[in-house]
Amino acid sequence: MTLAPAPPYRSRHRSIRRGLTAALITAATVLLPVTAAGAAPTGTAVAAASPTLNELAAAKGRYFASATDNPELTDTSYTATLGSEFGQITPGNSMKWDTTEPQRGQFSFAKGDAVVSFAQAHGQDVRGHTLVWHSQLPGWVSALPASEVRAAMESHIAGEAGHYKGRIKAWDVVNEPFNDDGTYRTSPFYNAMGKDYIAYALQAAHAADPGAKLYINDYNTDGLGAKSDAMYNLVRDLKAQGVPIDGVGFQAHLAVQYGFPTQMQQNLQRFADLGVDVAVTELDVRMVLPADATKLAAQSDYYRRVTEACLGVSRCVGITIWDYTDKYSWVPGTFSGQGLACLWDANLQPKPVLDVVRTALGATGSGDTTAPSVPAGLTVTGTSSSSVSLSWTASTDSVGVTGYDIFRGGTQVGSSTGTSFTNSGLSASTSYSFTVRAKDAAGNVSAQSSPVTGATTAGSGGGGSLKVQYKNNDSAAGDNQIKPGLQLVNTGSGAVALSSVKIRYWFSGEAGSSNYSAWCDYAVVGCGSLSQSVSSSGSSTAGADHYLEVGFSSGSLAAGASSGEMQLRFAKSDWSNFSEADDYSRGTNTSFADAPKIGVYVNGTLVWGAAP
Ligand code: G3I
Repeated sequence: MTLAPAPPYRSRHRSIRRGLTAALITAATVLLPVTAAGAAPTGTAVAAASPTLNELAAAKGRYFASATDNPELTDTSYTATLGSEFGQITPGNSMKWDTTEPQRGQFSFAKGDAVVSFAQAHGQDVRGHTLVWHSQLPGWVSALPASEVRAAMESHIAGEAGHYKGRIKAWDVVNEPFNDDGTYRTSPFYNAMGKDYIAYALQAAHAADPGAKLYINDYNTDGLGAKSDAMYNLVRDLKAQGVPIDGVGFQAHLAVQYGFPTQMQQNLQRFADLGVDVAVTELDVRMVLPADATKLAAQSDYYRRVTEACLGVSRCVGITIWDYTDKYSWVPGTFSGQGLACLWDANLQPKPVLDVVRTALGATGSGDTTAPSVPAGLTVTGTSSSSVSLSWTASTDSVGVTGYDIFRGGTQVGSSTGTSFTNSGLSASTSYSFTVRAKDAAGNVSAQSSPVTGATTAGSGGGGSLKVQYKNNDSAAGDNQIKPGLQLVNTGSGAVALSSVKIRYWFSGEAGSSNYSAWCDYAVVGCGSLSQSVSSSGSSTAGADHYLEVGFSSGSLAAGASSGEMQLRFAKSDWSNFSEADDYSRGTNTSFADAPKIGVYVNGTLVWGAAP
């Protein structure tokens, strides 16, 4: 495997084992049973997985980082993982303007220094966050006359970036400059200087710490769209003007209910193609509580895809998660009723989704060789003339189910992270057999579920894809036998499995025995492949209290094909006479013609003809 080049960052404090090769990436993942919420059970001691997330990322030329905050640094269970699992940390709050310069000219770096000290003690890099942002901005900045804002901003940058000179690998110099529609966000800085404040800020940061990589950072720019277009145009223009910009940060605060960003990897790539680094800077994936299997599977899918998007872009230098544990996530405090956004749970236990990220980073041999349980309860929940919808019961797994593969007739036709799937593009009036397999992050796959058959309904236009033609082989309407000639025709574009098809010919039994015998005298498909029986219909329609049902044991009817003639005959066991003239399905034609009063059923669904 070709490893991407190591990010061109300074690495004075690095402990990333750059010599690590892919061959050494053998994970010793902690396997824990999984609760319904997707969390491991409560406990305190969790053996560190080896290699760590950062070691896995380092083998791919990236870092793996976490945000943190000062109050958390007193939680020794928390810091044990923070200090060992990640190659870099970002202070979530302590380098913001309201903390570092709460009064004009009065700098306070104690909290930021504590984070830097922690990083240095653990051989980690620090991402500086953030120098110029409209939020967590002290009131005195907002109160300044416009004429003083640039000087105040440049003084703040000089003071803070100067204080940390040589100790910050990358700065989020400007944070969140855009509205979601791609217009510039108003702020004291934009109001005073227009968009030029961004260039001024980058120039001031470069002057204060020429070794730090300088970034613009924003959210909802992760995929293609108006906001990322705006960011793209800004970065392109800054590069063209020679403004010192080294990278673009993509926060990636995702939520399963909003879908995955559009073409994230392509989006990162287009920025990289401008000649800047890109980084995922604040990744988390929240969900509306309570969690369920579908949401957890989607979350795993999103984490995997973000990781793969970064690994797919050589200038994507690393991934930062916006704290590693639900215990300290910002999400519940901001989005009421949402949460579970992180890789470790609120008890500091690794969640199944962590294993998904580890696998995406190239971990092999996770030790998980247990396949998920076989999906149960596979049922058809709906059909149309071109689709069959399925649902099933969620599987369970020792680590976590990541999704399901759906098969039609043994061929995979799709995947789902949830417990339902609709197979589209099918032929009308056709029956299909489906099975489902569950899979986990380690690549273990369950056995196939029990199959279920789903039949598409008749297409529009009246006749559908199957039709039956009839001719009367019995000129005597008052004798003791009824002799319909039938042939089944497939007018559709796909083959039809004959075992799913039944033909019903309705007639009146009149007086006499209610026991019947039925025979096939001749059939192009072979009488041996046909079954015929007579049943009471329960219909009160005249001439329709019984029906002859013809079935097929096997075979399929190709698109456009006809079964050819089937000469059928039936009688009451007492051989009493019928009075056929008013029978519902009877016709007087002696050559085959379409028979709208003879029914064709596919898996019990009427697809041709009108039942009485
Ligand atoms: O420090 C005070 C504390 O004294 C007080 O008792 C408490 C009462 O609510 O508030 C504390 O301040 C909180 C601060 O975090 C420190 O914990 C604020 O209320 C709270 O709003 C603030 O939230 C931070 C948020 O930015 C503010 O916008 C989050 O921790 C922080 O994770 C979050 O990070 C941002 C990034 O900087 C930019 N991108 C989005 C990301 C998530 O919102």
